[in-house]
Amino acid sequence: MLHQKKILLGITGSIAAYKSALLARELQRRGAEVRVIMTPSATEFITPLTLATLTGHPVHSDFTENKDSGEWTNHVELGLWGDAFLIAPATAQTLSAMVSGTCDNFLMAVHLSSRCPVIAAPAMDLDMFQHEATQSNLKILKSRGVPIIEPESGALASGLEGKGRMAEPESIANWLENWFRSKAPLAEKKVVITAGPTHEPIDAVRFISNRSSGKMGYALATELNALGADVHLISGPVQLSAPAGVQVTRVETAIEMHTIALKSFETADIGIATAAVADYRAKSSSSVKLHRDEIPTAIQLQENPDILADWGKRKRGTQVLIGFALETDEGVESAKSKLARKNLDFIVLNSTQNEGAGFGTDTNQISIFEQNGKSHIFDLKSKKEVARDIVTILLTHLPQ
Ligand code: C5P
Repeated sequence: MLHQKKILLGITGSIAAYKSALLARELQRRGAEVRVIMTPSATEFITPLTLATLTGHPVHSDFTENKDSGEWTNHVELGLWGDAFLIAPATAQTLSAMVSGTCDNFLMAVHLSSRCPVIAAPAMDLDMFQHEATQSNLKILKSRGVPIIEPESGALASGLEGKGRMAEPESIANWLENWFRSKAPLAEKKVVITAGPTHEPIDAVRFISNRSSGKMGYALATELNALGADVHLISGPVQLSAPAGVQVTRVETAIEMHTIALKSFETADIGIATAAVADYRAKSSSSVKLHRDEIPTAIQLQENPDILADWGKRKRGTQVLIGFALETDEGVESAKSKLARKNLDFIVLNSTQNEGAGFGTDTNQISIFEQNGKSHIFDLKSKKEVARDIVTILLTHLPQ
């Protein structure tokens, strides 16, 4: 969730400022880009050099960059740069200045010029925190939509015990991640995705399968998770590791995939079937390895359930259903007929006629046909970019 997020980290004059270095590191470790501004008193607790070295960007605490040349620091530009302005630690003095709109230092000027959400993580002694004035300031800030990351209880620098310690860097980073997640376009949406091939056993070591790598389904799961969705990936046997933040259930056969997929779809908002489910399984299979002379020369097959078609029969309300069609010919008519037959909102067609598209490759060339008659033809792209295109169209199908 913090990947490529721009975090403007404001540090004010509290002993907790020493933790801001660890906080900057933690945010960067999670993929965020961090720029630091400090109040003059914060620079007495921790040096700008430390923060500048850690973040790889100059740290600003003054309106002038270079007094001799008259070069000034652009507080408006910094205020516009961030996706969030996190003030951690935020002293009682800063909280009060935030309420009154005081602009007596560079950080407070950025505060007034920032268009991104401002978040404060207070840090102070327990009596200062409990004081009616501080509590009233916090209330006003909350009522203005400034989220407050509550301080923790414990030993304070004064020697007293109580509430006032700035939340630990890891807790602040977790808080930010959850906050970004709650603002993401797919926040609170549950998605179930089937991916990969299935293995239909003939005996204990042999099976019927296909060349699906699962890459498209995994790329979609990653993209949807990044947009805040709660993703359940039901994966056939593939050589891919679980995308971070995605719940993965690994299965072997179509029957197993079918059972789990139907259950998961009951509570899902979106169902996406990328799996190349084997259409047939062997009517009977052996639980031990068959010897060469025991292997039947003809294997009787039995039809597997169509997971996507069964989702389509159960689809209700605002649930959105997306199917895939892989065809070795042009395939438009066949894809459109699946779109209607399986009760889909849209279908993604990739034809193996196009070089670089389909099974096993890292790229794909798709066309999308929507149930409302619209169609889209895309260029050959990486599966990651293809996943983005699919999600862009998916977003237009969600209730506003
Ligand atoms: O096999 P077919 O071309 O009909 O596959 C089209 C779509 O149906 C794909 O999205 C695939 O994941 C899904 N499907 C399924 N269960 C099957 C066969 C296909 O979910 N048994």
